[in-house]
Amino acid sequence: MNELNPPVGDQSVLTRGVDAPIGIFDSGFGGLTVARAVWDQLPAEDVIYLGDTARAPYGPLPISQVREYALECLDLLYASGVKALVIACNSASSAVLRDARERYDVPVIEVILPAARRAVKMTRSGEVGVICTAATAMSQSYDDAMAAVPGVRLHTATCPLFVDYVERGVTGGPELLDVARRYLAQLQFVGVDTLILGCTHYPLLTGLLSYVLGDGVTLVSSSEECAKQVYAELTDLGLARESDHAGRRRFLTTGDPTRFSGIGRRLIGTELDAVEQVVGAAQG
Ligand code: DGL
Repeated sequence: MNELNPPVGDQSVLTRGVDAPIGIFDSGFGGLTVARAVWDQLPAEDVIYLGDTARAPYGPLPISQVREYALECLDLLYASGVKALVIACNSASSAVLRDARERYDVPVIEVILPAARRAVKMTRSGEVGVICTAATAMSQSYDDAMAAVPGVRLHTATCPLFVDYVERGVTGGPELLDVARRYLAQLQFVGVDTLILGCTHYPLLTGLLSYVLGDGVTLVSSSEECAKQVYAELTDLGLARESDHAGRRRFLTTGDPTRFSGIGRRLIGTELDAVEQVVGAAQG
């Protein structure tokens, strides 16, 4: 991907038309939960999805490394002519939140702020939890997003094993239940009434999380909130496509396309046709 010229600069003009696709990016597979929500809400949109599976998971990486990888991937999607960029990964959103909007002249939608905003609306006690990767926790992006909100206290728990379970297709069973109880114990102890699923893999664990936390805790999916934000921004900007078009889907991966389709199908229950491998710096 080094050969691409990154579109750097403080530009604010929308250069792509309504019929251009939406670009959705994640470190790997979790962003498919965002893509699925976007397809449900905006079925007429063409989507190009890029998963940087050759370098995933991002969660354990230093934030500077995540930033470098994320911008390479976003540059690639931008160069393919998308009308909007969706950062469907909390770790990547945390890493590039501050500068992605200056770098591209198309709308950039990420997962952190929509999820934080929804959690603030939902909480009654003011005790809000977020579960996420180490990269997201280290970046303190959720803390920053809520810092100015009076009466809200954020409690963070990193859940490093969840991504691996989800990618193996394991969303239940005694072993995972035990892991979840350990991860969530402190959040239960402080009495959170709202929990942000601060990793786009975690919506696939909604049943497990509700089972452990019970009905008294509202779950806020960063994937679902991000998709609503995509809808809102495209509509506000006059960039949402008319509904007589059947949206096309194209999948790009920096890793093995066969593995990508296999895991992707298992995660979102849909055939992923047309998976292409993209080569370049992402292979390193
Ligand atoms: N889905 C990514 C997120 O939302 C995490 C997966 C990874 O560690 O690469 O943070």
